[in-house]
Amino acid sequence: MCEYRAAGLNDQAFIVEMARQASVIEDRPLPEGDSADVLAILPPSLDTVVIGADGSGRPLGAAWWHWHEPPLLCDDDGSPLPEMIVAVVEELRDRGIGTGLVAALCAKAATRYDALALNVHLRNRAAGLYTRTGFRVAGAGRGFFGVAMRRDLVP
Ligand SMILES: CC(C)(COP(=O)(O)OP(=O)(O)OC[C@H]1O[C@@H](n2cnc3c(N)ncnc32)[C@H](O)[C@@H]1OP(=O)(O)O)[C@@H](O)C(=O)NCCC(=O)NCCS
Repeated sequence: MCEYRAAGLNDQAFIVEMARQASVIEDRPLPEGDSADVLAILPPSLDTVVIGADGSGRPLGAAWWHWHEPPLLCDDDGSPLPEMIVAVVEELRDRGIGTGLVAALCAKAATRYDALALNVHLRNRAAGLYTRTGFRVAGAGRGFFGVAMRRDLVP
């Protein structure tokens, strides 16, 4: 069973590990924790993170939003949309934890923003999760195979 909770200082190393998982492209090796790709997607503060944890608090996955320069998508008034990152410990995937993390993060973000954006590699299986949870293609993403997606949030 997975519970969704706020992140604390003890979760910082885990969040970096999840950012490494979310940075990997296809079957290439995981980037280092201090690589530019990983640093570029880390959360700006713990306040933007939701942790999926087991009954004893052990983290199983994480989702957060962050700000990327240049922004992927902007709102009608030109304000950049926060971008979502999600990852689950490899051995614990396909059990609904990712779906729960997206739901929990969207609920948290809905109190502050109108929409969330994300960038997904065309061939990343995560695209199915995003479509199932209400994200829709909103344009070209980053790189040759990047797709930008957006989900409107209801407070
Ligand atoms: C993408 C990611 C976060 C998904 O996490 P997850 O916990 O496996 O997600 P879920 O279990 O909710 O959904 C995954 C699949 O399991 C299935 N599933 C969900 N609950 C299930 C259950 N109880 N039993 C069996 N299957 C289940 C879902 O139908 C889903 O299938 P689909 O994606 O083909 O539609 C995870 O694969 C991951 O960490 N990937 C590496 C990081 C990454 O690429 N992040 C995205 C960067 S854009």
